[in-house]
Amino acid sequence: MRILICYASTEGQTRKICRFCAEQLMARGDSVEMLPAEEAGEIDLAIFDAAILAGSVHVGRLQARLADFAAAHAGVLNGMPTLLLVVSLAIAGDDPGDRAELDRIAAGFAQKAGWTPGQVAHVAGAFRFTEYDFFRALAMRWIAHRKGERINPQKDTEYTDWAALADLIRGWPAG
Ligand SMILES: Cc1cc2nc3c(=O)[nH]c(=O)nc-3n(C[C@H](O)[C@H](O)[C@H](O)COP(=O)(O)O)c2cc1C
Repeated sequence: MRILICYASTEGQTRKICRFCAEQLMARGDSVEMLPAEEAGEIDLAIFDAAILAGSVHVGRLQARLADFAAAHAGVLNGMPTLLLVVSLAIAGDDPGDRAELDRIAAGFAQKAGWTPGQVAHVAGAFRFTEYDFFRALAMRWIAHRKGERINPQKDTEYTDWAALADLIRGWPAG
């Protein structure tokens, strides 16, 4: 299959997740094009058989550039197998309220774009203190503290479950 992976990544973890997905897909013989959303606007989606869109949650929403891409290409996306990957830190916890909020974020994103993803998956991201400016670092330390999470603000902490992600990609698209 020819597969497009279109992503938005603010601190780099979603890009890393997409690269991993691309490697999994290529290992099984698919051909993959991986593009940041801001460079994918003009692409002709008709040359692909399937697409993965991936973005990360920042203050309760996915990146606007990914939303713009999804809205611009909703018609074609709705006619092919698709997967929306929503990267967040909240999914790394076990709070049902957080989970419900992430489901709302994903549903709102898709509805606003006029796109119905074939599958939606939540993927745990990372604390990337090496990428944060002072205020982001402060905000993230506060979030970690509030969650009772023990983190080292001198280094990055990754929550992504790579084995689960490989399983997900192995089973996609279903059928
Ligand atoms: C300023 C900021 C705000 C964030 N807001 C949320 C949030 O509202 N909910 C959440 O679950 N994660 C939140 N996160 C965590 C990110 O989703 C997580 O770090 C993810 O790995 C970022 O992916 P990226 O590196 O591809 O941008 C936030 C991170 C930052 C830096």
